[in-house]
Amino acid sequence: MRNKNKEEKILQAAEAYAKEQLGNDVSGHDFWHVKRVVNLALQIAEEEKADTFICHLAALLHDVADGKLNSSEEAGLAKVEHWLLQKELEPADCQEIMAIISHISFKGGQVSNFPLSAEGKIVQDADRLDALGAIGIARAMVYSGAKGRPIYDPNLSPRENMTLEEYRSTEGTAIMHFYEKLLTLKDKMNTETAKKLAENRHAFMESYLEQFYAEWEGKR
Ligand code: ADP
Ligand code: NI
Repeated sequence: MRNKNKEEKILQAAEAYAKEQLGNDVSGHDFWHVKRVVNLALQIAEEEKADTFICHLAALLHDVADGKLNSSEEAGLAKVEHWLLQKELEPADCQEIMAIISHISFKGGQVSNFPLSAEGKIVQDADRLDALGAIGIARAMVYSGAKGRPIYDPNLSPRENMTLEEYRSTEGTAIMHFYEKLLTLKDKMNTETAKKLAENRHAFMESYLEQFYAEWEGKR
């Protein structure tokens, strides 16, 4: 049996930990991103009748181990595991959280074959949804600005089959990122609930691009 009080305490501690670790990161992983992923994950978990505690905790911690914020992804994961082991978490839950956060990242499109649990699929969907729609566009622009990438260059085409290094490299433009990642995410959603949310966000990005090109040509 789960102990609600204990779970509540762990969630509060994890929220404070994520806030402290992510702070005001400008690479698209600030704490408000985490808050939105938590909200989406909980909403999807309710619909899909999954374990809300696991989804909540994994969503809170999902970016703390990110390779961009740590000396390496391995070091980041070891740090989170160390933190979890200090909490009174069931060993099975600790393992489950580590399995989720080490496998949900996008990594330039390389698909991991790791079989995610239902909760892992939900947190992955929630993280991907936050890269879509109006929020996703804002994040891509902020990320590009932080990396010194221009908005658009009509002479550059999107890159295909990128390695992780190429994906992380600052070459290219913000608009290229729509084709390299954002527009591919709709078809990668795991759950029916996320698929529906993704459709709407995807359509918004397509109409944004249409308007963008029309303005670029001075047609609107
Ligand atoms: P993940 O959370 O899966 O690790 P990333 O770290 O790749 O995702 O991206 C964080 C945010 O920054 C996302 O909203 C993503 O779309 C955006 N982003 C990542 N790479 C780029 C890029 N090369 N150009 C523009 N935006 C990017
Ligand atoms: Ni994330």
